[in-house]
Amino acid sequence: MSASSLKLLVVGDLHHMERNRDSLYCARALELWSLLVAQVKERPPAAILQLGDLIDGYHLPIEVCRRDLLDVHKVLMQSPYPVHPLIGNHETIYLPDRPFILETLGLSAISRVAAFGAVRAVFFDLTVDGESYGLLTPERAAWLEAELDRAPERPAIILQHPLIHPDEETCGHRHYVQNSGAYLRLLARHPQVQMVLTGHRHIPTRLEFRGTDKPARRPGARRGPLVQLTLPAFCSWPFTYGALTVDEPAGALTFREEPLEPVEGVFSKRALEELLAEGRRIRIEENPDVWSARVRLSPELKEVTAVWQTQ
Ligand SMILES: [Fe+2]
Repeated sequence: MSASSLKLLVVGDLHHMERNRDSLYCARALELWSLLVAQVKERPPAAILQLGDLIDGYHLPIEVCRRDLLDVHKVLMQSPYPVHPLIGNHETIYLPDRPFILETLGLSAISRVAAFGAVRAVFFDLTVDGESYGLLTPERAAWLEAELDRAPERPAIILQHPLIHPDEETCGHRHYVQNSGAYLRLLARHPQVQMVLTGHRHIPTRLEFRGTDKPARRPGARRGPLVQLTLPAFCSWPFTYGALTVDEPAGALTFREEPLEPVEGVFSKRALEELLAEGRRIRIEENPDVWSARVRLSPELKEVTAVWQTQ
């Protein structure tokens, strides 16, 4: 890593609410966030980028969702590093009040571009009110195309909540952008897009899009296929986040999954709960009697590098 490299953090779905749900430690999401912020202070990131589902609104009244969004935003903004949040289906299903969301997050639009050195980060809203799937509307497509055309030689990353389906032209599954085929064709016209980062599925996933492995030969263009990385939910075991390192002179962007404070060993349920109470990172195995805790990063997200042409 060169001295001029830049570090960004990427955080998956937060799902903040007062009760835990299924495998999500929703009630601890803000504690985990504070742990992350404290942990990275030795090597401060230029910014923290988030991937949507700030709140968990499952079966909650809208007023509770409003309060939770205000609370999570307040904690995020107390971070010593700039934080760039996104929204997901939990906002648009359980808090379908876009004016309130924008006002709370202090944004004029969810879709926007932020520059970090040479790299442009495109925060792209594909959510649909009342639904879990994503949709590339004609307006959203036109906006994205115009933003990418504005700086075709600058490497870009796209941050979004739902996933792009790699094979299906139209996908009915709730995890994906419904018109994934049209979206992929748009991205194929813009080889400066180095990586797509998503949340939503909660399962770490890395996939390459077919037909994107021969991008144009020009500065800023990717040298390999376009990759989509899906981060686990931030509030689920094992608690991890993404670290993006941008090495501008080399023309390279590397994503690595990093653990929050690791724990290894085999523990009783009570001991694990005590560790969790201390904010430690734990993974629970299948056996409900003896729970073991072990650092286990996803092999899918261990290290993924995108390289672009520098001239
Ligand atoms: Fe989520």
